[in-house]
Amino acid sequence: MIKHGIPTAQYETFTDITLANKYIEKNGVPIVIKADGLAAGKGVIVALTKEEAYQAVDSMLSQNKYGDAGARIVIEEFLDGEEASFIAICDGENVLPLASSQDHKRLQNNDLGPNTGGMGAYSPAPIVNQEIHEKIMNQIILPTMKGMKKDGIKFQGFLYAGVIIDDNCNIKTLEFNCRMGDPETQPILFRLKSNLFNILMAAESGNLSNIKAEWDDGYSITIVMAAHNYPNKPRVDDQIYNINNIDNDNDCYTFHAGTKKVDDKIFTSGGRVLGVTARAKSLQAAKDKVYKLTSTIEFSGAQYRNDIGQKALIKSSEK
Ligand code: GLY
Repeated sequence: MIKHGIPTAQYETFTDITLANKYIEKNGVPIVIKADGLAAGKGVIVALTKEEAYQAVDSMLSQNKYGDAGARIVIEEFLDGEEASFIAICDGENVLPLASSQDHKRLQNNDLGPNTGGMGAYSPAPIVNQEIHEKIMNQIILPTMKGMKKDGIKFQGFLYAGVIIDDNCNIKTLEFNCRMGDPETQPILFRLKSNLFNILMAAESGNLSNIKAEWDDGYSITIVMAAHNYPNKPRVDDQIYNINNIDNDNDCYTFHAGTKKVDDKIFTSGGRVLGVTARAKSLQAAKDKVYKLTSTIEFSGAQYRNDIGQKALIKSSEK
């Protein structure tokens, strides 16, 4: 990103605890400590105090909490603003942006508690208005494609940019993933009216310029129901009740993630267990519908946030 002029946070990488702690001392808090390898979305600690920052460094570089993934860490400037997920599909030359979405990474309401892989998402994200959409395309997505091409990389597939938008509508890149997001995929695809297979085939054959994606003009929301003790080692084997009581009409769907079926009974088998999803004409109506469904599903130790979509609703009522 630095090489190709794509806006992002200032950062340095470390394998040495003393140097990492010196950097924290110099730059102060809040500051972000990241495992440099794959950690299932959990290797990111936003430290609000220096003690938290030192502890995060220690857990990765000394206690090997994330194994090899944390043997090298990135310490990054904390970016203040609102986060959105912007996913585009690319065919090596052309880019087709998908509908915007917003994930909720913290475990608890009001963005409190530890970071998770994502506790809920909705689409579209009202913060990504036309102006922000164009900025993300022109400052992040297109320069990234151009930069990769210049570096000899032909990129075909999903390019996921996690972006942060500040109060002055400046944008910076938080992260890239070469995939769709979880749980962003569920509300995004729930609004897709075009045939996904045709879009994928066009991306594969270099024909995305001929494709338009059509979207339902309402909103969809996914609530993640997570297992007891997630995002630490989740408890498994809790029986899940009432999934079958849900009337899966065309506007509601419960996606299974960390579940397993034993003798016609469903049990938890992972951290993020279910993605309860609903769609409606307004965000408020989608929220009401999805929480009505979520509240009917039961398993011991179930954790879910009650405020997915709330931030956007408050913002729109302030306008
Ligand atoms: N929900 C964030 C991700 O999939 O990376």
